[in-house]
Amino acid sequence: MPALDRAPADRRRIGRRDCRTPPRLPAPAWQNHGMHRVAVVTGASSGIGAATAIRLAAAGYHVIAAARRAERVEALAAHIHAAGGAAEARQLDVTDRAAVDALADSLDRCDVLISNAGGAVGADQIADSRTEDWRAMYEVNVLGTLNVTKALLPKLISSADGTVVVMSSTAGFVAYEGGGGYVAAKHGVHALAATLRLELCGQPVRVIEIAPGMVKTAEFAINRFRGDADQAAAVYAGVAEPLTDEDIADAVTWAVTRPSHVNVDLMVLRPRAQAAQHKVCREQ
Ligand SMILES: NC(=O)c1ccc[n+]([C@@H]2O[C@H](COP(=O)([O-])OP(=O)(O)OC[C@H]3O[C@@H](n4cnc5c(N)ncnc54)[C@H](OP(=O)(O)O)[C@@H]3O)[C@@H](O)[C@H]2O)c1
Repeated sequence: MPALDRAPADRRRIGRRDCRTPPRLPAPAWQNHGMHRVAVVTGASSGIGAATAIRLAAAGYHVIAAARRAERVEALAAHIHAAGGAAEARQLDVTDRAAVDALADSLDRCDVLISNAGGAVGADQIADSRTEDWRAMYEVNVLGTLNVTKALLPKLISSADGTVVVMSSTAGFVAYEGGGGYVAAKHGVHALAATLRLELCGQPVRVIEIAPGMVKTAEFAINRFRGDADQAAAVYAGVAEPLTDEDIADAVTWAVTRPSHVNVDLMVLRPRAQAAQHKVCREQ
């Protein structure tokens, strides 16, 4: 869980904000009226999801932090409480439709959904690809997003000011060798976000797609390469400053906290050293 277990010194960079203590945003109007807004964050046990949960809590949301690893989301919720925020941990597999429905039913309200759970499995060329890897990626990235969106949509609409944030990827627009199954899945996530935005036009729900490029999180590449630390490290080798989970969490929180009528349709974020999927500047 990078946002919590990294050594403090690692999180401080000269000339940049200390990301451990994101600045408190001005209290939005709904807070002044004593209302209690709820943000559900999936994949909150590590990386971008954990950092986003912390930032949304700092912005005043009551965060529901969900992931399969219960002990990780419980530690995250405790961390948020200790910092004066509000959070609950929920064990959840987003591919389990019944479990997703049960979580949605258990909530009094939902104002924001961050559908972030996802990831890549394998980097094989299509000729060598494993069907089970493609299925796993489709299930968590696409069907997981479908499940949480469907389950929470009635509450998002009845909040009268709902927001769905879908975590896609630059892989949702551009193919790359060895990316097949992940590229296909993230294209699916992009299609889901675009379709949902059209279908919800006229309803009080925004649909925001966040599409990161290279983000150096603790687990993403390790999971992709089935625990091979050398292969995972090679992804970021020589890249001066890949994006961090804090960078993405900052962007998500900014998009979510715009005035209700402002829909940030799509935000693409890449490190300066990555001009395109295939063009990465690596120092020798
Ligand atoms: N890192 C990048 O370069 C990058 C770039 C573009 C987009 N993204 C996207 O950003 C999102 C977060 O990535 P990350 O870098 O933060 O990776 P990460 O640290 O591996 O986070 C993935 C999260 O998803 C959760 N998850 C996986 N399967 C799940 C399931 N079936 N049900 C519920 N939760 C599940 C994991 O928690 P549990 O294992 O505890 O369930 C974990 O919290 C992903 O959708 C990823 O595709 C990442």
